Amino acid sequence: MAELKGLLRTHNCGELRKEHVGQTVTICGWVNKYRDLGALHFIDVRDKFGLTQLGFDDYKGDMAVLKNCALESVIKAVGVVKERPADAQNSKMDTGLVEVQVTELEVLSRNDIDNIPFLPYGQIEATEDLRLKYRYLDLRTKKLQDILALRSRTTNAVRRMLEEENFIEVETPILYKSTPEGARDYIVPSRVHPSKVYALPQSPQTLKQLLMIGSTDKYFQICRCFRDEDLRADRQPEFTQIDMEVSFATPEYIKNIVEKIIRELFKLPADFVVPMMTYNEALARYGSDKPDARFGLEHKVVTDIFKDSDFSVFSSVANANGLIKAIFIPEENGTFSRKDTDALTEVVKPHGGKGVAFFKVSGDERSAGISKFITDEIYSKLCALEENAGNGTWMFCADPDSDVTHSCADALRRHLGKKLNLITEGYKFLWIHDFPLLEWNPDDKRYIARHHPFTMVKKELTEKFMTGDSKDSNAYKDLPAEAYDLVCNGYELGGGSIRIHDQSVQKKMFEVLGMSEEEVKTQFGFFIEALNYGVPPHGGLAFGLDRIVMLLAKTDSIRDVIAFPKTTSASDLMAEAPSTPGKNQLKELHFDWTKTK
Ligand code: AMO
Repeated sequence: MAELKGLLRTHNCGELRKEHVGQTVTICGWVNKYRDLGALHFIDVRDKFGLTQLGFDDYKGDMAVLKNCALESVIKAVGVVKERPADAQNSKMDTGLVEVQVTELEVLSRNDIDNIPFLPYGQIEATEDLRLKYRYLDLRTKKLQDILALRSRTTNAVRRMLEEENFIEVETPILYKSTPEGARDYIVPSRVHPSKVYALPQSPQTLKQLLMIGSTDKYFQICRCFRDEDLRADRQPEFTQIDMEVSFATPEYIKNIVEKIIRELFKLPADFVVPMMTYNEALARYGSDKPDARFGLEHKVVTDIFKDSDFSVFSSVANANGLIKAIFIPEENGTFSRKDTDALTEVVKPHGGKGVAFFKVSGDERSAGISKFITDEIYSKLCALEENAGNGTWMFCADPDSDVTHSCADALRRHLGKKLNLITEGYKFLWIHDFPLLEWNPDDKRYIARHHPFTMVKKELTEKFMTGDSKDSNAYKDLPAEAYDLVCNGYELGGGSIRIHDQSVQKKMFEVLGMSEEEVKTQFGFFIEALNYGVPPHGGLAFGLDRIVMLLAKTDSIRDVIAFPKTTSASDLMAEAPSTPGKNQLKELHFDWTKTK
């Protein structure tokens, strides 16, 4: 579509083709390359759309202007589009058959080349920290511009699809009250109300439920959420959700709307449905509730096989109610030197593991590692669990704490998948469902909500939930929630549930979570009260938009898909946020930091 009139340029830098030959054009952009061949001068001028070569054969102006065009300066050039001489044509470049012979040249903004921290398209190497400090320079790269455009297309497509399904977009407050999603809150002190704070929403969870009570029927919002938690490659302290809530929804509706969205975003076939897997199955097969199903090397639970083993490390784990898992790596997938197997300790260490036991199989021979403990009986039991058994390497993770075994075996599997190049291209989606509603925290001797405190238990188990004892660590063991996570390639892309819409159930939930009546009243009094006045059964889900774009852009850092991201220590290196407040600001906010220890 032609651009509206009123720009300084007539064409962008990626636009000119043979059909423009003879036209007088005005081009604006950054100087990407300057070549001075004595009699001939060329500039490659760049903008986000591409590159155009400028020639100066017909230029009558002051050549000093040209010399001032340091790389990354912004220029405006008027000239005539000419076909390049045959030997200068570049078919790999979109505009490579033409050039603009400049008649007028203006430097709109001169770059001081000597001080530029790095050239976005140059050979100067830049660390990630330097790129983040000068984010606006890094944003000039094609990679980041393409991702920004992809992100914009993604949000627009989602808006269109949801509006088609009669969702309406509603904005909810940022200055609000704690909305528990398992992280710490960011808080904002109030000037008007001394010693009081707002909390930034970890998600609009209670607000969207209140919108349902307010008869909004189908809500969505592309909204910012704030969570003070340990950051990782796929986590930012502020991130964006595609947040949805639907009245009178069953899990089937939530599944349908989510699958409609991902089919379009990920260009999947019209009949594609996401396979379902229970939480327990995901844990047994992958040691994770967000498995990367793009490759095999699935876990086998082998605890019982080692109960009477002479290998005391394993038999003691087996007899202490611990967990032993095995991974078999067929010879054709990879073989391991002594150095390789030694290095595996480092893979499991961060997850609490002490090492990885292994043995190798070649024909009838078992060798290396723990092979002397692998009797024929043990070996045949292992083979009975593994359809690919044969020549290869068996690896084991074992720990008295089964969570440690799961995470070590998960880390090991992901490491092997990458190292042995087993990960196939494409997207492998899974619905993980039947999550435990609650988890017992042995240190605090109380339950915590696995999703959030507004998630409904499976309907048929409501009675069990209502009558359980919140002090009993077994009362709610493995009680499944009506909750579902959408997982893709090892990332949790979205999470949702059917909500509690009955006041007595919600009150019981807060009690089970160890909240006193007083705490419930101060934190959620308004919400509990709203549950009195006629509540439609409802449910919903929130996607992590950043993670979706990350997968679509095929990058593995969430920072690549956010225009101005923060580091893993939650700082903005460019603006230097967070920063020290002024004394007056503190005073106005009734703060006295001299009193804080
Ligand atoms: P949940 O906490 O699972 O659910 O969040 C939903 C999705 O948001 C993304 N996400 C993040 N992305 C980047 N950085 C983070 N720090 C971060 N934390 C979460 C994930 C996740 O799947 N209110 C519920 C949703 C609901 O029940 O409807 C909620 O926020 O992709």
